[in-house]
Amino acid sequence: MFNYEIKKQSYSVALQQAKQLLLQNDMQNGLYYINRAIQLNFELSSNCIIPEIRSSLIAEGQKLQDIASKVSAGQNPFLRNYGVPAQQAPQSPSMPQNTQGAENKPIKEQSSANKVQDGNELAFFKKESPSVTLEDIAGLDEVKKQIRLNVIAPIKNPELFYAYKEEAGCQILMYGPPGCGKSFVAEAIAGELQCAYAIVNASDILDKYVGEAPKKITKLFEESKQFDNCLIFFDELDALFASRESSDSSHTKDVLTTFLTCLSGFSASKNKDSVRVIIGATNRPWILDSALIRGKRFDTHIYVGLPDEKARTFMVKRAFRKHGALLENTDITVEDLVEMFDGYSGADLTSLIDKMKSLALSRAIENSAQGITEISPITKEDALTVLKGFRNSITKESLEMFESFAKGEI
Ligand SMILES: Nc1ncnc2c1ncn2[C@@H]1O[C@H](COP(=O)(O)OP(=O)(O)O)[C@@H](O)[C@H]1O
Ligand SMILES: [Mg+2]
Repeated sequence: MFNYEIKKQSYSVALQQAKQLLLQNDMQNGLYYINRAIQLNFELSSNCIIPEIRSSLIAEGQKLQDIASKVSAGQNPFLRNYGVPAQQAPQSPSMPQNTQGAENKPIKEQSSANKVQDGNELAFFKKESPSVTLEDIAGLDEVKKQIRLNVIAPIKNPELFYAYKEEAGCQILMYGPPGCGKSFVAEAIAGELQCAYAIVNASDILDKYVGEAPKKITKLFEESKQFDNCLIFFDELDALFASRESSDSSHTKDVLTTFLTCLSGFSASKNKDSVRVIIGATNRPWILDSALIRGKRFDTHIYVGLPDEKARTFMVKRAFRKHGALLENTDITVEDLVEMFDGYSGADLTSLIDKMKSLALSRAIENSAQGITEISPITKEDALTVLKGFRNSITKESLEMFESFAKGEI
């Protein structure tokens, strides 16, 4: 059934995203959202029965078409240098003139992310574990349960797993609003497991030289073959694998095609003694190419959402663990803060508390200049001042988009 209000919300989110991305000169994702907005605009105008609204929607749709064709031609109407083609990915110096690849790049460009190395040295995989574990994660009980069942139990106890299932290991997609702990969960999983793992960010793979990104993906999966048990975590999946339809760049398509091929090989190479897990994370699951979440690929979806009351209590207490005096002899309690932070991500919560501590600190510095040496605790007024000047990074609309994705509507 056509739900006008939901479509209207999705339309305004798409417009906002497009504008934001184009302002950041992210032409590829910006174009995707403009096309999405055009499609939603068309659906809205076709279903609108009020003539005035309908004609204004049609006029808006025409403007969007105009913007889309400019963006497709490499022009960014949202930037001041309008008309100047957006930066095109230069051809790799290794193609076709020479074949030396990454070594040929200027030293400055060989970032640590661009880790393709010679010999047997590992470029992506690490064997030492990070110090965080699942115990350090606040709340997210359902996420932890799924991770224990799908990732940790099979790697720690493969025989038991094979007694019940044909194959252990899995492909998991973690999705949810930014700052709610997806990357943190990945690090904690690596901390829990005694196995080789790779945490791969989009910037580790993306390369301004055409043809380099697929090579890096191949290298990553080649490396994984050295291990019986291993975990690969792909962060910011959307930055790497936006829908193929939304991108007219052939090298973006090459990256996805290479990834899909490697992914099939990765799962197929499992044997009875090995557990191979791949986890992807994204803040924008709806822009992922549908081939990525089809069939057995990334078939377990886990929503990593806003911290609930229990999680916020854990985080607030942890933030004041070493500074208990900051919440003593004052008009605000841990419970008050937990309530005030309802609707904020874990990352926002951390930053809000930092700002409150800074206000209290500046007061303490002023006091000490006047000879008062006592600790100046955080007050309710500090909390209200900070909250008033803080823009919540998570909107109601974006939460609705996640709900729609979970229901399979987008
Ligand atoms: N559930 C949580 N428990 C503990 N810390 C959290 C949690 N969610 C977010 N954080 C804090 O916020 C920071 C940013 O979270 P991150 O994992 O990068 O979010 P995401 O990957 O979902 O965008 C983390 O490094 C951590 O300090
Ligand atoms: Mg992250």
